Amino acid sequence: MTKKFYIKTFGCQMNVADSRVMGELLLKSGFEKTEDPSTADVVIFNSCSVRKHAEDRLFSNLGLTMKKNPSARFILAGCTAQRFGEKLLKRFKKLSAVLGPGEIFKIEKVVRDVLEGKKVIATGRTEYRFVERRADISENVVIGRGCNNFCSYCVVPFLRGREEYRPSSDILKEISCLVESGTKEVILLGQNVNSYRDPEKGLNFCELLDEISKIKGLLRIRFLTSHPKDVPDELVVLMKKNEKIAKHIHLPVQAGSNKILKQMNRKYTREKYIEIAQKFRSEIPDIAITTDIIVGFPTETEEDFFKTEDLVKKVKFDGIYVFKYSPRDGTSASKLKDAVSEEEKQRRHKRILDLARKISLARRASFVGKTCDVLFEKNEIGHNSQNFLVFKKGAKKGSFLKLEIKDVKNEMLLA
Ligand code: 5AD
Ligand code: SF4
Repeated sequence: MTKKFYIKTFGCQMNVADSRVMGELLLKSGFEKTEDPSTADVVIFNSCSVRKHAEDRLFSNLGLTMKKNPSARFILAGCTAQRFGEKLLKRFKKLSAVLGPGEIFKIEKVVRDVLEGKKVIATGRTEYRFVERRADISENVVIGRGCNNFCSYCVVPFLRGREEYRPSSDILKEISCLVESGTKEVILLGQNVNSYRDPEKGLNFCELLDEISKIKGLLRIRFLTSHPKDVPDELVVLMKKNEKIAKHIHLPVQAGSNKILKQMNRKYTREKYIEIAQKFRSEIPDIAITTDIIVGFPTETEEDFFKTEDLVKKVKFDGIYVFKYSPRDGTSASKLKDAVSEEEKQRRHKRILDLARKISLARRASFVGKTCDVLFEKNEIGHNSQNFLVFKKGAKKGSFLKLEIKDVKNEMLLA
């Protein structure tokens, strides 16, 4: 009988992409996918370690699913697997395998092994390879893995290793293949896309974007994530003139105080960040700028926090993710006393979110009366170039339409 697998994904877009690769490899080797973990023979949890909260949720979810489906085999994949390694097999007796993010391509063998009753630990790193898949309208394409930045709060470099980029020839082949089977938009993924370097031809990120934009039939290119210290003027120029590149940049600022930025090892100042944002806004007036912010970093005083609020007001972000600082073992910030209380973190979190929401709603409202290019990833639901959600009654999945925005409801544009 065909064995069924279930995959649940925690964390970032990179994990979503990794889960997709694992799922596709398993489908290719004859396994069947199920959306219900209680009917699965193999349950895979693709985990995230970036904050304690994500890990807590993972562990409680894992324990619960193990109780509900005691006969299944369990594989813990992703960053938490990398972080705790074989300790997890001791902690969870029902766990069969620990599979780090560098080894996702081994999933078929791991699944076969655990079905035979073996225990597996795979926390090395294998070469990235291109996995053909049934194309969706919008597809993630990984251009590189790992991170060299060592921001003082972040565990990612310890778990995903140093930066490693795929050759542009591979990336272009993958995207061409996807476009031939119906993909209209790609989202280039990397922990720090702006430091892309083609290991074969030496192309930089802008040159890669330019090459990708020549693929016929591809309508839109997005990318995630950019580090402010690595954004060249050349990118602003390219985004301005190249119609295929979406008018959106996700540019995590993390904090608005120079003292905190220094302690975070971010390698830019608030002034520099504001200057970059202003350059984008003056060259590309309708660009959307989104960001990540951490509140409650160990030494963050009320005054530091005000500087973050002030920066949010100055840049007028179109979207924002706010996180409460969470100490992670092994990072340099974890040696500092986690001095801001949970209540205070909660208060700062809410204040930034409330402020940012007002600003982003006003930004969206300014699109009423304007015409936008909207790509529909689903029937009636699409995104414009700025990555704002757009609703249009009757619009068909896959269509790319020029639409006048009539109204805004919550965070959604109505066309
Ligand atoms: N605590 C809170 N937030 C964190 N992030 C990364 N590490 C931590 C941490 N230790 C946030 C950053 C990053 C986003 C993906 O997660 O804002 O940009
Ligand atoms: Fe993604 Fe970082 Fe979480 Fe790993 S720890 S899943 S890289 S956000």
